[in-house]
Amino acid sequence: MSTLVLLRHGQSQWNLENRFTGWVDVDLTEQGRAEAVAAGQLMKAEGLHFDVAFTSVLKRAIRTLWTALDEMDAMWLPVQRSWRLNERHYGALQGLNKAETAAQHGEDQVKIWRRSYDVPPPEMPTSDAGHPVHDARYASLDNRVLPGTESLKLTLERVLPFWFDAIAPELKQGRNVLVTAHGNSLRALYKFLNQVSDEDILEVNIPTGMPLKFELDDELNVVQFGYLGDADAVAKAAAAVANQGKA
Ligand code: 3PG
Repeated sequence: MSTLVLLRHGQSQWNLENRFTGWVDVDLTEQGRAEAVAAGQLMKAEGLHFDVAFTSVLKRAIRTLWTALDEMDAMWLPVQRSWRLNERHYGALQGLNKAETAAQHGEDQVKIWRRSYDVPPPEMPTSDAGHPVHDARYASLDNRVLPGTESLKLTLERVLPFWFDAIAPELKQGRNVLVTAHGNSLRALYKFLNQVSDEDILEVNIPTGMPLKFELDDELNVVQFGYLGDADAVAKAAAAVANQGKA
C-alpha cells in the first residue's frame, strides 16, 4: 500500500484574472500562497509523511510545493521537476479571459475547449513568441514534442510516460508521493487512476490548493480516494472552477 497526494497549485494571478494560462509561467497571488500554506498544514494535521515529490517546471506549482513542504517541515524531500507535469497547453487561448471568450464563442464551445477529452483548443503557431520552442527551459527537448495546443487526451499521453518511468516505481516500492501540478495535468492523472470515461471527465473540476489523497494497492489500483478537509468547501471550489467558463 502507498499514499499518493495530488495537489493543484494555489490561486495564480491569471486564475484571479480568469485568463487561460496553460504553459505561461504565472506566479501565485497572496491568496494562492495562503492556499499552499493551508494545504501543507492540512497534510501535516492528517499525519501524512512523503518520501518523494514531483512537480512541473512552472513556478505556480513549484512554489506551492515549496510552501506546502515548508509547512510540513519537509523541505529536505527529494523533488523531481518535469515538463510532463505542466498544465495542458491552451494553444491560442492562452492569455484570453475565459468569460469574454465564452461571450464571444458561446459557453458550449468554451466548455468543449476546457473540458472535452479530445478536442484541442485552436493551435498556437511555432512563430508565436509564446510557443515553448522559444523557451530556454525546454531547450534540451526535441521541438517535435513541444505542443502548440493540447486536448486532455494529448495531455494524458505526455503525462503517462512520466507516471510510468518516475512516479509509479516509487509507489510500487511502498513510498508515499506528493505530486504538485495543474488543473488539467492532474485531471489527466485522475482520469487514468480512477478509469473515468471520456464523457464523465467533462464534469471533473479540480480546485486550487486542495490535497486529493489516494490509497493505492501494490498494483497501484485505487483502494480509496478523496479530498482532505471540508467537503462543502471542496465542492464549492470545484463548482467555482466549472463556472469560470460562463459568460
Ligand atoms: C489554465 O491553464 O487556464 C488553468 O490553470 C486551468 O484552466 P481550466 O480550468 O480552464 O481548464
